[in-house]
Amino acid sequence: MANLNINFAGIKSPNPFWLASGPPTNSGYQIMKAFDQGWGGAVWKTLGVPVVNVSSRYGAINHRGNKMVGLNNIELITDRRLSDNLREMEEVKKHFPDHAVIASLMVQSKTEWHQIVKDVQNAGADGIELNFGCPHGMCERGMGSAVGQEPEVLELLTGWVMDVAKVPVIVKLTPNISDITVPAQAARRAGADAISLINTIQSLIGIDIDKFIAYPVVENHSTNGGYCGPAVKPIALNMVKNCAQNPYVQLPISGIGGIENWRDAVEFILLGSTSVQICTAVMHYGFGIIRELTAGLEQYMDSHGFATIDQFVGKALPNIKDWADLNLKYSVKASIDEDKCIGCQLCYTACEDGAHQAIDLNDDKSIRIPKINEENCVGCNLCSLICPVENCITMVRKDDGKQHITWKQRTEADNIPLIFDDELAGGLSHAVRKPIDALKK
Ligand SMILES: Cc1cc2nc3c(=O)[nH]c(=O)nc-3n(C[C@H](O)[C@H](O)[C@H](O)COP(=O)(O)O)c2cc1C
Ligand code: SF4
Ligand code: SF4
Repeated sequence: MANLNINFAGIKSPNPFWLASGPPTNSGYQIMKAFDQGWGGAVWKTLGVPVVNVSSRYGAINHRGNKMVGLNNIELITDRRLSDNLREMEEVKKHFPDHAVIASLMVQSKTEWHQIVKDVQNAGADGIELNFGCPHGMCERGMGSAVGQEPEVLELLTGWVMDVAKVPVIVKLTPNISDITVPAQAARRAGADAISLINTIQSLIGIDIDKFIAYPVVENHSTNGGYCGPAVKPIALNMVKNCAQNPYVQLPISGIGGIENWRDAVEFILLGSTSVQICTAVMHYGFGIIRELTAGLEQYMDSHGFATIDQFVGKALPNIKDWADLNLKYSVKASIDEDKCIGCQLCYTACEDGAHQAIDLNDDKSIRIPKINEENCVGCNLCSLICPVENCITMVRKDDGKQHITWKQRTEADNIPLIFDDELAGGLSHAVRKPIDALKK
């Protein structure tokens, strides 16, 4: 039976699922309720000098009937008194000594940092997370992502915290930067014990096109906010991968961004996360999702023979390479399972207008099943992605697996296109229709 316990940079937790700092961790009441239902840890709503919040403060993207695939917020850090938060933190720790309670912090001066670190340690926090990621409101006051975007400042402030920290310190990074490994390395240089990523992505969720006001509306105005939820998961995964693969980072990672179910969590773990944090999915579905998260993860681990989380942290990393290291001789072509095809012809339209004109319709219009033209097919995947029938279009390997050549090897052998109409260019090896043929249709 799988053991879900983790030791994250010295912070012990009965499972890798932590509530991310946000509305679900705003109070001891919520955190106790979540722990009672099975959550392993919680990162408290960021503590600092309490702020005033506006209403309204959230906006969302709905996509084809799915509500809130992306969430935007203009909320700031806690608006509750520090003394209340500390008292409640102590109470939570008393009831749940084996769960991970992490205090998220954001203050300004060195004196303030020293004081608040001591305060949360006295309240029993198992770890500290430095919020250098919030991309709205607080950054305009020189905090949050304003720190995360300046590696030298991040290093200085993390150093202040390390001066007095007696519990593990996690630096939470902002994705609003071109290379997230730069602040990650700064965190390492400052002596941080771990990193967490991502915080929200700076965004404007949309506009009321009749009133000419952006969302979320505050009287007659709005402002930019932070984007999260399922829509940001691919960005978060890439950033986690970048940090995990960087030889100068080498810190435990708490993965965050769009996690909704156990599969999402496994993906983050396979890319190097030891713990995972969740905010939007809890705001959407409540603490109860923990039952599916833990049961699914256990079943996955059992089916793969993993006894502990450590056994598969980063297991997908060796298979993610630079583009220049991919085999140029590997070749797949689309194949339609005629028994499954419902004749919707969506694949034809997609390939005809959006890809490589490699799907033909039958001249007899009563026959709806399209045919793949292998000469034109470049194996891009588009048709298989849009086909509404599961496994109806599959990509079938066509090379014999004996040849292996990468762009890097070609570059080293001086075997690359150097002029615009070079015969070595890949585009010349697949058929392309003449422009005039477009008008004959
Ligand atoms: C309404 C809201 C408030 C948030 N407040 C905080 C905060 O106070 N401190 C913090 O570090 N992150 C905060 N976050 C960011 C989350 O902790 C998390 O990094 C982000 O939402 C991505 O995870 P998700 O896709 O699971 O929501 C907030 C997110 C939301 C949606
Ligand atoms: S999209 Fe799929 S189901 Fe529709 S015609 Fe193409 S192969 Fe058939
Ligand atoms: S894989 Fe790409 S090129 Fe080939 S048939 Fe499908 S859409 Fe067209």
